[in-house]
Amino acid sequence: MIKFIGNYIKIDTKNTTLLLEIINKRVVKRYYGSKIRDDKDENVFRGFFDESIEFSSSTDDTTYDNTMMSSNGDGANIEFMVKLYTNNNIVSRFIYDSCELVDINEGYTNFPHSYDKKETIKFIYNDVVSGVKLYHYLSTYEDMDVMSSFLELDNTSNELVHINRLMSLQLDFDTSEGTIYTLDGAWTKERFLSKNHVSNTTFKISSVSGASSNVHNPFMMLEIKNQGFYGTNLVYSGNHLELVDMIPVGKMRLLTGLNDYYFDYKLEPNKTFKSPEAIFTFGVDSDSITFNMHRFIKRHIIREDFREMDRPILINNWEATYFDFTKEKLLSLATKAKSLGIELFVLDDGWFSGRKDDHSSLGDWFDNREKTGGLENLSKSLKDLGMKFGLWVEPEMISEDSELFRKHPEYMMRIPNVKPLEKRFQQMLDLTNKEVENYVIEVLSDLFKKVNVDYVKWDCNRYLIDIYSNSNTDLHEYHYRYIKALYNILYTLTTRFPHVLFESCSAGGNRFDLGMMYFFPQAWCSDNTDAFDRLYIQEGTLYAYPQNTMGAHVSITPNHQTEGSVYIDSRFNVAAFGAFGYELDLLKLKKEDLKAIKNQVSFYKKYRDIFQRGDYYRINSVFDSNNFGWISVNKNKTKALATIVIQKFKMNTLKLKFYLKGLNKDYKYKVSVRNQDNLKEAREFVMYGDALMSYGLDFGNLFYQETTRALNSYSFASRLLIIERVK
Ligand code: GLA
Repeated sequence: MIKFIGNYIKIDTKNTTLLLEIINKRVVKRYYGSKIRDDKDENVFRGFFDESIEFSSSTDDTTYDNTMMSSNGDGANIEFMVKLYTNNNIVSRFIYDSCELVDINEGYTNFPHSYDKKETIKFIYNDVVSGVKLYHYLSTYEDMDVMSSFLELDNTSNELVHINRLMSLQLDFDTSEGTIYTLDGAWTKERFLSKNHVSNTTFKISSVSGASSNVHNPFMMLEIKNQGFYGTNLVYSGNHLELVDMIPVGKMRLLTGLNDYYFDYKLEPNKTFKSPEAIFTFGVDSDSITFNMHRFIKRHIIREDFREMDRPILINNWEATYFDFTKEKLLSLATKAKSLGIELFVLDDGWFSGRKDDHSSLGDWFDNREKTGGLENLSKSLKDLGMKFGLWVEPEMISEDSELFRKHPEYMMRIPNVKPLEKRFQQMLDLTNKEVENYVIEVLSDLFKKVNVDYVKWDCNRYLIDIYSNSNTDLHEYHYRYIKALYNILYTLTTRFPHVLFESCSAGGNRFDLGMMYFFPQAWCSDNTDAFDRLYIQEGTLYAYPQNTMGAHVSITPNHQTEGSVYIDSRFNVAAFGAFGYELDLLKLKKEDLKAIKNQVSFYKKYRDIFQRGDYYRINSVFDSNNFGWISVNKNKTKALATIVIQKFKMNTLKLKFYLKGLNKDYKYKVSVRNQDNLKEAREFVMYGDALMSYGLDFGNLFYQETTRALNSYSFASRLLIIERVK
């Protein structure tokens, strides 16, 4: 609810308040945190904020006041939100003009944004230097305890304005120290949680590769002593920048938005430019940030048709066959998968043109009928079997050894007369060339129509390096324009094929972000399928993104990436907390493993809605504990599933307790251990919710009875608990 009380604007969600005050023609942030009560008397908000008491060196120095927007002409020696220049000026100074409530809700469009904003307030500023206008939009999603923010620059001057920086969100705080949590990594090591306590410095994460990247995800969480936790994320898939600037006067500014790296956007008179949307939330602990982000994404980012949709259990042939398959092999794999209850067969890389390894053919999206026996036939055989059909594509790429390159070398992104750097033996298409954009749309539309796909895995195995365009794209706008063109392609294809479930992938999890999620409701999380490493990758990912957006598969032991070994049901217990599937050669498995998989599939189906859409909480954390787990609870708290893990058995140290979360404290629950093959018997007991959450459960008892001594022969041991309300 947005309320105007005297000079104050009080923006409330169910449990939080953002309190702003219009003062000295600026929008000052007085408070953001747990909800504070209403009053018609604005004096109750003023407290000690008495303008006559000034501690700064001069009485009119308001430079370091907390504001919701800033520019390089504010006079403060701190990072700022907006930087513009024109032929004559390099400074801008924005003066608040007015504000109004507006409705900016839109349906599905070709640039990602959140749906169904409850209320939006638009602040209007004038730049006294250049004469341009700036609009700052703040929206609420009441029940979610989330708000969003973005800027729009309106060139109301009569000269060209260069935008060097236009961030999406600014949050100022009265402190110069805090703990910052980010999700950082690399290929096969995506989104590991980093925790940095910092003071009096500038903390920065960013990406410059053209993708949101596996190096630093755009999600960020900030913990401030005596206040709580603040989470932010950006609805964008390209270069991003997050800054937390702290200066010793007890001042901190958090900024998130488009990276200004080589960014110089030319805005003609009468044109506007919008920054991507940033979302932000407050919570008393890190669990609340995760909870709020998950609920928000599920309701306000994912397309409507996919919000409540059960994600099918899939089998992907990549780790089963890599490039080496025949139509017979694919069909036997699918038939075996079907007999185990698996629902979707995904044909990965290698089905098109002359593609026999990763050196050729990207761009030639034409069926290699010799290998596939004809994709239409394959798709039909699968449908006859009662399975859905999915296909892998990597449409943003071009191989130098391809028909497309021979015909259209100018489609490739490369600098004239310079040998471009190769990554994974491939190059990128120049999507900023409209002709290339259209080629991608049409070639894929033809393919999807002909083959009747239910699912598409959209890969992107390298990033932008030799940036250049034959279609005269301004190179200082290139990163942004690439993403815009990509979004238009995704929008067009998802509109033409509205029922296809798209999964984004980028060399594993190199583009796991809200921009992609707006178009494609799930994403492959990592090429590392070792369940031990996945404990980290998935818990990190789940900090910011809900279970049903995260592709997670059971693969073979020893694992192809790490050679690590994990017991078959532990592999399940980890992958089950995502958009679940298998990626291994079922035809080579032992009988016991096939039996285990059959049980897993039917168990997952029974509880799929809780695994995929339940409320998720961490039970301890893999990042700081030897014993930890995850729990997912249904809406009315009558059922929950928990995976609990212990990393190493050490004699006499098993008196470890763990505490469930998210249950109703007054309900009585039956807790049973899912019967894994390596347990002598499945145990169960009954307890009240409050006891389960505060009395604690004994790890030792739950890990007792292992028949295989799997605790130490594998990298970790796990149990899956089923928690159901009993009367
Ligand atoms: C990437 C993906 C994998 C697989 C291969 C195919 O690495 O992340 O899952 O699809 O490409 O080449």
